[in-house]
Amino acid sequence: MSLRSSLKLLGALGAVTLGAASLEACHNPRERPPAREYTEPSTHPATPPELRRLRASLQALPDPVEFDQRKMVLGRRLFHDTALSVDNTLSCASCHAINQGGTDRRRTSLGVRGQVGGINSPTVLNARYHFVQFWDGRAADLRAQAAGPVANPVEMGNTWPNVVATLSRSPDYVAAFRESYPSDGLTEANVRDAIAVYEEALVTPAPLDRFLRGDDRALNDEQREGAVLFESVGCTTCHNGIAVGGTSFQRMGAVRDYFALRGTPLTPEDAGRFNVTHREADRHFFKVPTLRNVAETGPWFHDGHATTLEDAVRTMAAVQLGRDLDAAQVQRIVAFLRAMTGTIPAYAALPPST
Ligand code: HEC
Ligand code: HEC
Repeated sequence: MSLRSSLKLLGALGAVTLGAASLEACHNPRERPPAREYTEPSTHPATPPELRRLRASLQALPDPVEFDQRKMVLGRRLFHDTALSVDNTLSCASCHAINQGGTDRRRTSLGVRGQVGGINSPTVLNARYHFVQFWDGRAADLRAQAAGPVANPVEMGNTWPNVVATLSRSPDYVAAFRESYPSDGLTEANVRDAIAVYEEALVTPAPLDRFLRGDDRALNDEQREGAVLFESVGCTTCHNGIAVGGTSFQRMGAVRDYFALRGTPLTPEDAGRFNVTHREADRHFFKVPTLRNVAETGPWFHDGHATTLEDAVRTMAAVQLGRDLDAAQVQRIVAFLRAMTGTIPAYAALPPST
């Protein structure tokens, strides 16, 4: 590893500690049940040190999450409404289907008029916990993020004045906005806010969370072995915090050249964070994605080049950590990743009547 990438890693670790502390501060501790210690050592071996360290670098989701119910319902309708796109063909859900892990399951997304986008659609599930939004971090938060796809020519191809005008023709929307936003009603900022409230409610508790709260039996043997490996080979250096990712930018290919390994020509999107900062040191840096629900979000990576989760894990170990894992190790880590597949809350789906 070069000095620069070691420094980046160290920098990320610093950021991680801060991130975890500030997340902790903004959750009401009463939202969370107290951590339970596992108390039957006679039937289960003592928790290995790797699992203790894993519990220290990851965090359980709050359960339940709190949100404004009326705004969530309004945001849910907007998220599923094709009226946001210029030709009434695409909604946010077209590329972030809630029942498909919050993605479109394509290598890269298809925008209006069948245009092929240049990058893979990441999940919206638990996206509220990312320190910034988009692969290259160009949006600070969900409210800022929602401006992007509407006006992006290869996504929804619309303009915000046109979206507000279209929605204003619906008396239902006008009334709902007046109710939830009494001071200014239906505005661009409030459309984005309602969508963000809905996205903030898309939190998916998983077996991982029961494990993190102290229940070793929330994972089966294979998953526990995978969890030990995940920690001991160093995945948590980058995939950490409440979303098991989303706490730092890291180079794709920290140790070995990913793009040479991929063997296809570089695309503009491959530059990653460089496209935002134009600093050479940021080339090929991406926001570390969340691993929650990762078994549901393939194909994987910003370029959608990994077509199996096994492939994604093997590549990560090789290019990020310089480790060549054998098939059995990869399988155990994949089993552990499946313990991050969470329950989609029932309110996330648009009721059939709307
Ligand atoms: C045509 C497909 C498409 C549509 C429609 C679309 N998105 Fe996306 N979305 C993407 C892609 C592709 C990215 C990644 C782009 C990037 O990082 O440069 C993305 C990124 C995101 C992210 C950031 C997640 C992360 O991990 O950083 C969020 C949140 C999001 N979209 C929400 C929305 C919302 C809300 C809407 C509707 C207003 C929407 N998207 C419409 C394809 C789409
Ligand atoms: C040096 C930081 C770093 C380390 C260490 C690391 N990752 Fe990653 N991981 C990333 C980045 C950055 C991406 C996004 C890369 C891209 O899409 O180009 C990523 C993406 C992934 C993805 C694909 C997620 C998606 O939604 O497409 C999986 C799966 C994954 N990592 C698993 C692992 C596992 C398992 C390990 C340990 C063997 C690991 N990672 C170690 C930084 C890291």
